[in-house]
Amino acid sequence: MSELRMIADAVIASESGRIVYAGPARDAGSITLTGPGIRVDAGGRAVIPGFVDSHTHLPFAGDRSAEFLMRMQGRSYQEIAAAGGGIINTVRATREATEDALYEASRARLDRMLLHGTTTTEAKSGYGLELEAELKQLRVLRRLATCHPVDIIPTCMCAHDFPPEYRERRDEYVRAICDEILPEVSRQKLAEFFDVFVERGVYTVEQGERVCRCASGLGFGVKVHADELADTGGAALAAAVGAVSAEHLLFVSEEGIKRLAAARVVATLLPCVPLFLMMDQYAPARRMIEQGVAVAIATDLNPGSSNTESMPLVIQLACLKMRLSIEEALTAATLNAAHGIRRAHAVGSLEPGKSMDAIILEARSFVDLVYHLGVNPVRTVIKRGKVVAGSPS
Ligand code: NIG
Ligand code: FE
Repeated sequence: MSELRMIADAVIASESGRIVYAGPARDAGSITLTGPGIRVDAGGRAVIPGFVDSHTHLPFAGDRSAEFLMRMQGRSYQEIAAAGGGIINTVRATREATEDALYEASRARLDRMLLHGTTTTEAKSGYGLELEAELKQLRVLRRLATCHPVDIIPTCMCAHDFPPEYRERRDEYVRAICDEILPEVSRQKLAEFFDVFVERGVYTVEQGERVCRCASGLGFGVKVHADELADTGGAALAAAVGAVSAEHLLFVSEEGIKRLAAARVVATLLPCVPLFLMMDQYAPARRMIEQGVAVAIATDLNPGSSNTESMPLVIQLACLKMRLSIEEALTAATLNAAHGIRRAHAVGSLEPGKSMDAIILEARSFVDLVYHLGVNPVRTVIKRGKVVAGSPS
């Protein structure tokens, strides 16, 4: 993760949105490109791969600023959820929202992501928790994917929580996920991944295992929100069901880390969550890297535990709070994140054959990503060979 290939005085050439050359300018003379094309001079500034935000809850309605203010006065995230707030609060708003309103709110967030350098994002449903509302969220993602420069990888997270109407008969909802919701999402090809929140008071390991196995059987890649607020064995579950990634992992055990490494599960760490929830605990990223786990970092964009679109902020926290080096954080925000959504063949690094998705930073060095705190370090965003945000040169 700490070995970056850095080239001074480089040229990157692309054709039809794909990189055909990335290397020293002095060796680029022989490239001939057909077609009109554009030329962007970075003016000596640093150029890095576009960020891959591999964990977001992008399509939601409403906001939870009232809960945020309660938390600022000392109430905990769990207390608020137990009192009927939390995820269920956003479920109510998302169920009520029209598809167009949900689309507009999500598009505004996607625009902000792009301005902060994200060129590919994963996005989860999970604020519907019933067939039609989950489909509505996923349709919004499909519509966004056709008209927005950011690539969207959709995940069905119908196991984000239990819907209020099933609180007292949770296993019936587990059955609905397996027999009704996932088969329909699969039939309409609306999601590539499935995700479940395994946590005290939410999905038990047993319920998590059942829904993950159903999802795999239907061809979904599996993700698990694991060990976010307590160690409940979520990491071991992710390893056992062959998950592509495990998310959060603030309280992952030593045993959990070993299982993730052995099963080659990508650990997606979300350091804006402890910041936003005012917790002291961050995921043991150094320990995971030492044990050979592929660590990715992402925003977790959502209204309750991480209301941000900014990958630069994630990178800053990964370095300053989880002690990643800037090189490791950059790998975690690009190539490892691409692995976490099965897109490493297409995005995540500036190599021939991959999509020409790049960021020109304001600074000459990528060190400024962390050193210059709290500002947007992104000057220009290029997606598939076109300037799509920021300054044209
Ligand atoms: O990733 N952990 C569960 N889901 C979100 C929080 C969602 C919410 O509070 O609305 C998370 O942190
Ligand atoms: Fe999440």
